[in-house]
Amino acid sequence: MPIRPYVPADRPAVRSICHRTGYMGEPVARLWRDEASFADLFSGYYTDEEPDSLLIAERDGEVVGYLLGCLDSRRPPHMFRVLGPHVLRRGLLVRPGTAGFMWRAARDIALDAARHDGPPDRVLDPRWPAHLHINLLPAARGAGLGGALVRAWLDRVRAAELPGCHLETLAENRDGIAFFEAMGFEREGPPHPVPGMRTPEGARNHVQLMVHPL
Ligand SMILES: CC(C)(COP(=O)(O)OP(=O)(O)OC[C@H]1O[C@@H](n2cnc3c(N)ncnc32)[C@H](O)[C@@H]1OP(=O)(O)O)[C@@H](O)C(=O)NCCC(=O)NCCS
Repeated sequence: MPIRPYVPADRPAVRSICHRTGYMGEPVARLWRDEASFADLFSGYYTDEEPDSLLIAERDGEVVGYLLGCLDSRRPPHMFRVLGPHVLRRGLLVRPGTAGFMWRAARDIALDAARHDGPPDRVLDPRWPAHLHINLLPAARGAGLGGALVRAWLDRVRAAELPGCHLETLAENRDGIAFFEAMGFEREGPPHPVPGMRTPEGARNHVQLMVHPL
């Protein structure tokens, strides 16, 4: 299987795939057009702070996907710490392509808090301290690469003698959830609405926690 460790030269490809697959495997530009801030939020920690936990899927010499792993979920910075500098430097609150999301998210956070229905701030549970994100370009899907990446990562988590791994995915991502169930993950707890995120039809999206005790 063409699975290999990450090297720094992969960084631009990882960031590009992160943005091109960021909404349930579809481009996220509809919701967030600024690749630099999106990639910093969702792949920056893994490429820059924990590259040994990043696995690359390659086909014909091209990077076609990745698994971003983390062995200790307490380590990545809180999302607001990554977002803050971008709000100032890249003007996310007024920038076309991000401003709509930002203000909608602020409204959602206030409404969800009033209904006590926001997603947990972070998943820090000693039963599953590791976590992962995985994305493949469309042409690379359905050929066993995702399964190979997850199995390689779970071997790494077992070798570190950790008790489990978790992930968060959109509850609307039925194919993604079916894949993770095939990999041995189970849903844990109810889905929660995600601030700012919307389906193409304008409905709210929800986040689902999935866990894999080892
Ligand atoms: C989800 C994803 C990583 C799966 O990778 P993949 O290479 O397409 O999956 P594989 O071909 O390795 O499938 C592995 C197993 O999952 C099963 N599976 C995959 N998709 C499935 C589906 N929609 N329904 C049921 N089972 C499914 C396969 O049957 C296979 O089972 P097997 O090992 O018993 O044969 C990939 O399709 C992807 O990147 N999708 C878009 C982004 C995304 O949804 N990411 C995850 C959520 S954040």
